Formats: sequence, structure tokens, C-alpha cells
Amino acid sequence: MSHAIRVRAFAKINLGLKVLFPRRDGYHEIRTIYQSVSLHDRLKIGLRRGPGITIDCDDPAVPAGHDNLVYRACEAWRAARNYAGGVEIELQKCIPVGGGLGGGSSDAAATLMGIERLTGDRLDFPARLRLAASLGSDVPFFLVGGRAIGCGRGEEIYPLPDLSSRLCVIVHPGIPVSTPEAYRELGLSLTEAREKRNVDSFGAWSQFSLLDWGPAENDFERVVFARWPELGAIKNQFIRAGTETALLSGSGSAVYAVFDSARKLNQVSRTIPRGWAAFRTRTLRRREFQRLLFQVSPRRP
Ligand code: C5P
Repeated sequence: MSHAIRVRAFAKINLGLKVLFPRRDGYHEIRTIYQSVSLHDRLKIGLRRGPGITIDCDDPAVPAGHDNLVYRACEAWRAARNYAGGVEIELQKCIPVGGGLGGGSSDAAATLMGIERLTGDRLDFPARLRLAASLGSDVPFFLVGGRAIGCGRGEEIYPLPDLSSRLCVIVHPGIPVSTPEAYRELGLSLTEAREKRNVDSFGAWSQFSLLDWGPAENDFERVVFARWPELGAIKNQFIRAGTETALLSGSGSAVYAVFDSARKLNQVSRTIPRGWAAFRTRTLRRREFQRLLFQVSPRRP
């Protein structure tokens, strides 16, 4: 790669997630609060003369072709900008796949931001948001970072003021959850849709703590914890250890907990079941998210 740029793709957790009703377009209407965390994948993006897109990923489970959101992000951006050149991407995965942490979506958003910085050829912000939304419901959030409300199918983003930073532990049992399946299992009908339209307002959305860390709810816990009770058990362990917020992230299967002290986090880290992946991370403010995106040291050998 002659001309290349390195980008970090940060994971997200959901500080609450309410699924209101199924929509006619096949998606569900949701309300959520996204929060960036420092856990991240790394991308090295390069340009080349010939056409084509190549992705070299260190995780063989990640597809290299059209099924990869990074590939689709490149393709969509090239079409939007009429860019004839080729793109080469090295992707170093750290965010678990199928964890509800937005890894693939974040990689796609980082790809868009990286290519634009590399080429100096930029979409305006609303066009970049629209392109991101066409790739996946939570991709637009990763262009913004920090803490933000997600409405619609998750793609309508309203940035919120940052809360004070917190240490965060994320555990992943290695079970990938399929997002479409998790939505289907909620079993929401269009009848419920009519009833739930009444609560389709921020005012009625009081269980989400918009002002501070605190208990939060995720509608997916009902179906995901019923299938994997060990996930519910670890959440209860986090609560007993004095977490401020512990929750399933997205449609799972990662569960996270935030702590105001390293001592509590260390204590609870010892109780994580063997064989589970555990990530010690921290929440990121929007300014930090934006500052750290392009501050990437070269890949470790
Ligand atoms: O938008 P994304 O590609 O991430 O969505 C994957 C699938 O998850 C959708 O095809 C849909 O089945 C389901 N989904 C949904 N409602 C949402 C987001 C996703 O039903 N708000």
C-alpha cells in the first residue's frame, strides 16, 4: 500500500433499548441510547491504481467479499463519489462478532471516514449519514460517537451530552446472536404496534436514564436470557458487585457493566466464567472518540 491511513473502529454499548413495534418495511421501530467504548478494531486503508476492493482480515470467520460491511461501505462510497480507483483494507478484529457491540457497523463507518480523509473527497455530512444508514441501522451512530439517542430503526441519531467517564467490563460467552432472529423472537405484532404508538415519545420513555448512569432496560433481555440463563446470571453478579448500569448490549450476546471504581471492576472480573471473553474498557466522550479515531499506532507484529 503506497498511500494508506490507519483508523480505529470503536465498539458501542446500549444504555437502554426499547423495541416499540414492527414496521411495514420489515424493521422494528426502536428507541435506544448508544454509548461509545474504547474497545476497538483497527483498519489500515490504502488506495491503489487498479479497480477492485480487497479486504485482508486477521479473523478467518469474517467474510472478505460483499457480505462484509467494510466491502459494502467501499463500494457505496465509490459509487457516490464516482471514484474509479481501487481500495485495499487490512482489518484487525478485536470486537467480538455477533455480540451486539456494533463491530461490523463500526468498521463500515471507520472505512467511510478513512477513505474520505485519505482521498480528501468528502460527502457532505447529511449524505454521509444517509449512505451509512443504507449500510445498516446502527452505522450512522459510528460517524458521531459519544452518547446519542437512536430512533427509527436505530439510524436516526440525536447526540446527547456526555456523562462522566466510567470503567466498563464487557463479557462475551462466544455465542453469536443473529439480530434478525432476536427481533423475530420478540414476537411483536402489528396489533401491538397500534397500542405502542401511544408511548412513542421521549416523555413516556422515563425508564432510560438520560441524565446520569443508572438502571436501564433492554427488551432483548427477555428472549436472550430465556435462552441463555447464564447471561442473566452474570448480569445479576455485576449488580451484586455494585455496578451502576449492567445490561445486555444490543440484541446480545455481550453483557456489560460500568463501574465508578477500579476496585469493584477488579473484584467482579474474578467472577467471570472460564472460557468467556472479557474486555476491560472505558466509555468514550464524543470529543475523545473523534480525537482518537485517527490516532493509531502501527499494527503489532
Ligand atoms: O439494519 P441492519 O442490517 O443492522 O439490520 C439487520 C436485520 O435486523 C434487519 O434485516 C431486520 O431483520 C432486523 N432489524 C429490525 N429492526 C431494526 C434493526 C434491525 O427488525 N430496528
